[in-house]
Amino acid sequence: MRIEPLTFPAPGGGALVSSNARGGTAVRSGRPGAPGRPGPAAAPAAGLSLLDSLAARTADLSCLADVLIDCVQGGASVGWVKAPTKEQATAWWSAFLADPDHRTWVGRDDSGRIVATASLALTSKANGTHRAEVVKLLVHRQARGNKFAPGLMATIERFAKAERLSLLTLDTETGSLAESLYRRWGWSEVGAVPGFAKVAGGALVSTTIFYKQLGAR
Ligand SMILES: CC(C)(COP(=O)(O)OP(=O)(O)OC[C@H]1O[C@@H](n2cnc3c(N)ncnc32)[C@H](O)[C@@H]1OP(=O)(O)O)[C@@H](O)C(=O)NCCC(=O)NCCS
Repeated sequence: MRIEPLTFPAPGGGALVSSNARGGTAVRSGRPGAPGRPGPAAAPAAGLSLLDSLAARTADLSCLADVLIDCVQGGASVGWVKAPTKEQATAWWSAFLADPDHRTWVGRDDSGRIVATASLALTSKANGTHRAEVVKLLVHRQARGNKFAPGLMATIERFAKAERLSLLTLDTETGSLAESLYRRWGWSEVGAVPGFAKVAGGALVSTTIFYKQLGAR
């Protein structure tokens, strides 16, 4: 299993997720969270490398689209009611990765295919440069049970600390496996927003909001 920051070349040649130094702070997992708080559990070593070839871009976008589609088909409430088509999912990832405030990490299987991903959404708001939101923690069903999720979350926390971010936030479907994992990984629960997201069949489900303080800046 490998976990790495994902960068794609910008049209002009520069990386859209530009900073190798930022991505390079990702770590071998198993890091604790903020002092006194548990972090994601230890995971297998995660090698790091920047992905910057155009050839890789197409293959990786395809894998990311597959991961997203698979998770929605598996019932994950991550923005879609019905799974997007491959074309829609690929277009969504393209736009997502092109946003300069997004940092994305991926986990690969032994053949190099992306099977897991998680991202940080930074903010360009002047009063929010110390915080970021964890979004789109997704593991393909075929790759679950291999500690990709804790590995990605530990990597993100390490990155955030190195970037001197002091606050992370996220929300996840109330009652989901992810909700219980975040609690176990030391995230503090703010509360639940009822009727937040629509699921297949039209019912509305709650989302639970979490935060994690990473220490003073
Ligand atoms: C939640 C999710 C990211 C977990 O990914 P994962 O890589 O399979 O997680 P792991 O296998 O490493 O499991 C992490 C822990 O959860 C436990 N776990 C995994 N599946 C479980 C299940 N079905 N029931 C109970 N515990 C489970 C593991 O035992 C492990 O515990 P441990 O650290 O004490 O050993 C994955 O299920 C997923 O992608 N779900 C759909 C998308 C989603 O809901 N994302 C969250 C959006 S905020």
